[in-house]
Formats: sequence, structure tokens, C-alpha cells
Amino acid sequence: MHPNETRIFLAILTGVLVIIFLIGVFIISAIYHQKQNAQLKLAQLSVQLKALERERARIAADLHDDLGSSLAAIRLQIKHLKTNNQNDAAIIDEAKSYIDEAIQKLSYVSFNMMPLILQRNGLSDAIKELTEMIELTTAIKIKCDCTVDIGDNDRRIHFYRIIQEVLNNIVKHSKATAVNISVSRNERYILVDITDNGIGFDKDRIIKNSIGRGLKNIKSRVEVLKGKSYLSTGINKGVHYSFEIPDTEHNG
Ligand SMILES: Nc1ncnc2c1ncn2[C@@H]1O[C@H](COP(=O)(O)OP(=O)(O)O)[C@@H](O)[C@H]1O
Ligand SMILES: [Mg+2]
Repeated sequence: MHPNETRIFLAILTGVLVIIFLIGVFIISAIYHQKQNAQLKLAQLSVQLKALERERARIAADLHDDLGSSLAAIRLQIKHLKTNNQNDAAIIDEAKSYIDEAIQKLSYVSFNMMPLILQRNGLSDAIKELTEMIELTTAIKIKCDCTVDIGDNDRRIHFYRIIQEVLNNIVKHSKATAVNISVSRNERYILVDITDNGIGFDKDRIIKNSIGRGLKNIKSRVEVLKGKSYLSTGINKGVHYSFEIPDTEHNG
């Protein structure tokens, strides 16, 4: 090769290498920034959810302690009312049943806001109470194999909210008669499995049309828990959810 040609060849080669190097640096820094952004968004989401749950717990406690005890006091007063007049007795009875209904509704709203049992007894008891409430008010039979508990309070709330939303959807949309819930733990993960035998749904259509907030909320909480979720369903195929969440309590 002529020395001039060699020089031109080397110059082109150097140029190409520099361009490849710059493209590499650009791609690596873009990936790095994308990762940083994703981590920042996740941290913000986690803070938002924490604030939301703190507010819910405060409202639930206010409802239970303040309004709940006022209603209980009114009920006690009414119980002590005595009359020989039949009309008045009927009105007192009616008032008693309205108060009972209000107490019942209040405890339901406060339970939905933040079940006290979740903090006091843990995840399995809270899920059991939730499923018992559903069985009392619907024709759905629920089999629950949930003996696992989660030590960290924030994580426990995420698990509970995920299961609560799945069960709310079953009650609201599924027409199911049977539901199976299992929460188990292996050496690395906590596994949550929920199936219903209802009408199922067209997953692609629902996700594409961005219908509802429940499924998005589930996704956000699974992301904060750094887990994975699998949803298998179809028209008349029931619904099967499965969540695989890293068990930070065993793996640090
Ligand atoms: N278990 C289920 N059975 C049948 N359809 C369901 C079930 N879970 C969710 N869906 C469908 O997915 C949609 C989105 O659910 P979601 O995001 O929780 O919103 P929302 O409950 O507010 O409608 C529901 O409107 C319903 O059509
Ligand atoms: Mg929903």
C-alpha cells in the first residue's frame, strides 16, 4: 500500500473507532440515566403510597375511635329508653336498628380504609377477616391457605392491598362462585396465587383501553415490592393471578 493510502486508511479507521466509542458512551449513559430515572420514580411512588396509607390509617382510627364510640354511646342511651306507648316503642326500635346499621357500615368503611387487625395480628388474620366478610355478604365460597406473615409494616400493607383489590374485582365483576387464595413462601420469594371461576375478561382490551384504576394500582404496588405479576384470563375462563415477590426478610 502507498504510504499516503496507509495514512488515509489509518485516519479513517481512527475516525470510525472514535465514532463507535462516542456512540457506546452515549448508549451507556442513556441506559444509566434511564435506570436512575426508573429508580427515582419508584422511590417517589413508594413515598406517595406510604403517605396515602398513613392518611387512611388516621381516618380509619378517627372513624373507629371518635365516631364509633359516639354511636355506641347513642345506642346505649336508646337502649335505656322505656315507654308504655306502642307508637313510641316502635319508633325507639326503629332508631335502634338505624343505629345498629350505622355502626355496621362504619366498621365496614373503617375496615376498608385500614383494618386494625392487619397491624395487630398480621396479614393472614386480616385476609381471613376480609374473606369472611365477603362470604357473609355474597354467595362466593373462598378457600384460603394463607399462613405467611410479613414483618415489615409497609410491605405488609402492599400485600394486603393487592389481595384486597383482586378480591374487590372478584366481588364486583367476576360472577364467580369459588375462589382460591394461597400465600406461601419458598427460600427466595413470597408467592401469592388467587384464582376465581367466574366470567373472566379480555385482558388485552382492558389493558389497551386503560379501563379502571385497580389493575394499575396492583401493578404499582408489585413494582414497589420489586416483584413480578402474572395474570391469566379470557372470556369465560375465570381469572388466575400469581405474584412472585422477593422475600427481603430472608435475603436481607
Ligand atoms: N376477577 C375478574 N373477573 C372479571 N372481570 C374482571 C375481574 N377483575 C377485573 N376485571 C375486569 O377488569 C376491569 C379493570 O379492573 P380494575 O382496574 O380493577 O377497574 P375497576 O374495578 O374499577 O373497573 C374491570 O372493569 C373488569 O371488567
Ligand atoms: Mg377494581
